[in-house]
This record gives sequence, C-alpha cells and structure tokens, in this order.
Amino acid sequence: MTTVTLQADQRLVTLDAGNGPAHFPLIWLRDNAPEGFHPQTEERLFDLTSVPLDLSAEGARIEGDTLVIDWDGANSSRFDIATLMKVRPGSRRSDPAHIAPVTWRSDLGAGGIPRVSANAVLSDDAALQGWLASTRCYGISIVEGLADTTEAGMDVARRIGFLRETNFGVTFEVISKPNPNNLAYTPVALPLHTDLTNQEVPPGFQFLHCLANEATGGGSLFSDGYAIAEDLRQEDPDAFTLLSEVSIPFRFHDDSCDIRGRKHVITLNDESEVTEFCFNAHLADVLDLAPEVMVPYYAAYRRVMEMTRDPKYLVTLKLKAGEMVVFDNRRALHGRQAFDPSTGRRHLHGCYVDRGEFDSRLRLLAR
Ligand code: OGA
Ligand code: ZN
Repeated sequence: MTTVTLQADQRLVTLDAGNGPAHFPLIWLRDNAPEGFHPQTEERLFDLTSVPLDLSAEGARIEGDTLVIDWDGANSSRFDIATLMKVRPGSRRSDPAHIAPVTWRSDLGAGGIPRVSANAVLSDDAALQGWLASTRCYGISIVEGLADTTEAGMDVARRIGFLRETNFGVTFEVISKPNPNNLAYTPVALPLHTDLTNQEVPPGFQFLHCLANEATGGGSLFSDGYAIAEDLRQEDPDAFTLLSEVSIPFRFHDDSCDIRGRKHVITLNDESEVTEFCFNAHLADVLDLAPEVMVPYYAAYRRVMEMTRDPKYLVTLKLKAGEMVVFDNRRALHGRQAFDPSTGRRHLHGCYVDRGEFDSRLRLLAR
C-alpha cells in the first residue's frame, strides 16, 4: 500500500510504499508530468517558464497504481507510481552503460586482458554485449580472428556505432612512412600516452587492428590511468588535486590543421570518482600556468609521468596479425617499443568510436 502526503506549505509530495519515504518537489512533478512529453519521441515539450517556481497543488491522491496531482486550476497530472519511484529525486536513474571500472596493474598480465573472437561479436548480440561490458569494465580488450583486410577492424567497430573522424581521417594506418606528421608514423618508441589530448574531446575507444607485426621490436605497452590516478590520490593528495583542478594546454599542428585544447590530466565526476585520464607529453603545449602554480604543477605532472614509467602498472604484449586491441583512450594509456622496419613489416590499422556511441550500444543491447 502506497501512501501519499501533500505538504502544501513545502510544495512537496511524499510517497511511501513501505521502503522509506520518497520526496517529490511540486516543480519537479510539474516538469516531469507525462503529458508534457511528446507521445512518440518522448522528448519534453513542457515549458518550465510557463509555471511559477512556487506553483501549488490543490490535492494529491492515489488511484490504484497511479498518483494523481490536481494542480491549481483545472488540470491534473497522472503518474505511474512504479515509474516515478525509479526516478525518485536523489537517486541516479539506473543505466546499463554504467559499469563500475575494475582497475588493473601489471599483475593483470597480457593473459588477463578480456578476449573475444571477431566472429562472435560480428554475428551474436549477446557476445557483443558481453564484450562491450568487459571492455567498459577493464578499459581494454582484444578481439582475435580478424580477416586480413583493413575493413575487418572497422566492421567490428561499426557493430558499436559511428566511427569518430579526426584530422588523421576516419581510420589511420600506423606504419613507418616518409614525411610523418605524427611520431606514431615513425619506427621510434612511443611512451605510454593517450591519443589526441589536443582535441576538444579526445576520442573515446580506440581500435588498433594488427595486420602485420613481423619487424624486430614493436611490442605494445598498456597501463590503466585509473589505477595510476587512484594510487596518486593516496600517495600525494595535493598532486592529485592539482592534476584534477588545473588544466594544461595541448596542441597538434601540421600543414593542414592547428588543433588546441585544454585538459585536466585527471577528470573527476561529482562523486570524485576518476572518469578520465589524459596524458600525452608529446602533445603538451608550453605550460602557461601562473608562476606560483608552475613549480608545484611540474612536481605533480613529473610524478605522474614517473608513474607511467613504473613497471608496476605495465602490461606488455606483441600484437599478432589478426588481433585487434580495443581500449578506452580516455582511461587506458598505450605505447609501443621501437621497431626496425628493415627486419619486417609492421602495420596497424586504427579507428575510434566515442564513449557516447559505445554506451548507447550497451543500452540498446540491454533492452
Ligand atoms: C598510435 C599509437 C601504437 C603502435 O597510433 O596512436 O600509439 O603500436 N600506436 O604503433
Ligand atoms: Zn597512440
């Protein structure tokens, strides 16, 4: 039995279904009344400015499974109580894409990275859902058994959603090439980094499909930025605060673009949980912080750079042709060892899918 109380003076309706009272401000009820949404698109049509903030109600009652509010004047609103309880103020709406991260360090090992076969994710929605969930959880996975074509990795990525186009194209070839505009397109070692930190929003998930890896060297490195951030929070809270509150400039420029953005190395949500890790020493622009912040910032930034070099966080593997590593570029850091192009071919084919697309697919698969 659900009971309802209208506290007219407080402009509040309280529902109690036996598991603790749920409080609904009248202005919230008015803003979320079902008749204020388009019946087909379910987008809100109601205009909040059409009612006063301190609007009042004449009555609130329960009819079966429905809460009825009689507003001042002729109209009333009807709410399904079960639906209302799921979005009660103060509780986050449940979200199938909200998958708590499991942080990892070197003890994960290459063998601990979740693996799935390309055929499974291409042909089976349940396999796709399971793979997306573990990739969200660990921030990294490996797809194996891809066909030997540059399309094969994109086909898997497109099972999730639109590819994110950048100044490097819809997809990019990671090969050593003449006149490189990016260190990735040379044979040099790439220390752990996240890609495109200079973008307004760096790409979410990155896909690197290995077509050939026959040269000497060229192993891949990975670490979990969330683990580094959490350890820094314990070890040096002031450094952690600086890296999460002070933004620094990043820049990439070549003949055809000059793309600049400011980022925090560590991004937190309202609950102080780490939701992003952004680190790329090659793309960091000249730091422009106030002199009194500069040296403490360098101390924090240098410490986090040292942590990215610490074997404690490192997982290494050498990708084989037909494997594709997938990782959350706003969480996991990636890098590679130098390779010798005279000893064999190395060819990765890359693309990105943003977090929004990824999470949308997770929600659709959960329907
Ligand atoms: C990149 C990159 C890693 C590799 O293209 O952004 O980091 O293994 N490549 O070549
Ligand atoms: Zn990279």
